[in-house]
Amino acid sequence: MFKINENYLKLPGSYLFSTIAKKVKAYQEANPDKEIIRLGIGDVTQPIAPKIIDAMHSAVDEMGKAETFHGYAPDLGYDFLRNAIVEGDYKSRGADISADEIFVSDGAKCDSGNIQEIFSLDNKIAVCDPVYPVYVDTNVMAGRTGNYNSDTEMFENVIYMQCKEENNFAPQLPDKTPDIIYLCFPNNPTGSTINKAQLQEWVDYANKVGAVIIYDAAYEAYISEQDVPHTIYECEGARTCAIELKSFSKNAGFTGVRLGYTVVPKDLKCGDVCLNSLWARRHGTKYNGAPYIIQRAGEAVYSAEGREQIKKQVAYYMNNAKIIKEGLQTAGFTVSGGVNAPYIWLKTPDKMTSWEFFDYLLESANVVGTPGSGFGPSGEGYFRLTAFGSYENTIAAIDRIKKL
Ligand code: MLT
Repeated sequence: MFKINENYLKLPGSYLFSTIAKKVKAYQEANPDKEIIRLGIGDVTQPIAPKIIDAMHSAVDEMGKAETFHGYAPDLGYDFLRNAIVEGDYKSRGADISADEIFVSDGAKCDSGNIQEIFSLDNKIAVCDPVYPVYVDTNVMAGRTGNYNSDTEMFENVIYMQCKEENNFAPQLPDKTPDIIYLCFPNNPTGSTINKAQLQEWVDYANKVGAVIIYDAAYEAYISEQDVPHTIYECEGARTCAIELKSFSKNAGFTGVRLGYTVVPKDLKCGDVCLNSLWARRHGTKYNGAPYIIQRAGEAVYSAEGREQIKKQVAYYMNNAKIIKEGLQTAGFTVSGGVNAPYIWLKTPDKMTSWEFFDYLLESANVVGTPGSGFGPSGEGYFRLTAFGSYENTIAAIDRIKKL
């Protein structure tokens, strides 16, 4: 008789964004006349930039001719894209990363879930609280955590680093020593970030205790302040302790196209084993590479025209962030984020729980957001709104909230 992976049974409920989608669908079915504005999941709404669409069209045409047809992609990514990434995201920032340290994939969500596979089950993970649920859930599925405690709303054998208003929603170095540290800056869900000196402290700490940092930089394009690092490899010593995850979803609108990459420096070792080789082995065995057409689209993101066009999209979303933040402040909410990230993190009014506020907002304003408690116990009493909606919907949503 077969047996299932019982670790899955430790997970409470369904995936956060699936729960929200189900609730919204039920509400819409019961109230078909209501016009719902979705500012919940961080999904983009602007069309893909023309330069990128052109690149995709040309690549489609190439696929239709025998002499330019492409079959399986190289499992680690085409050189044209890996080289463009090195030039555009690393060399330009003085970060020492080479093309054979870049692993192209179908997105940062999958990579952030899969990367734990190359580590022993004995490793202890440390995560921010609140946190993007994928980091924790995938470690639960793998069996790296203990059971879920419904009183504390935490898994056993996980170090939770509370990110509260008092510390600007940035984690402090943990008291217990972790083996794997997940950091995401600019942060999802709180929209907070840390400066270069603060990130350097994490790098120094990881090197000192022999931990690895999984650094999720999916929202890097939204950084507007000077002293905020765009990549962890701006910090000295990061090559020996950090893996970086990047996405094309948020900077170039690829949520439905799917493209991302992971950086595993060759200096990152456990004894004499190179993590770069382990990830290459995993990638080669389990993955057949992002499609040629999509990798050509990714390459266009780094062209002069592509850059100019996506910069305008980022500015468009950040204008929404400003509208949300200032609108909510005027309405008397306590708000943070929205300066270096497309997420606005607000305190729920009148001591409502995050889910109570979710229902209230859905029913009274027909606006969907994300309950902070869905990201961890320290998110209770908070709520996340995304700036990825259209300008018109953002204005309308804030007007409705102001009228509550
Ligand atoms: C979010 O809303 O937190 C993210 O968009 C989800 C994701 O990127 O997977």
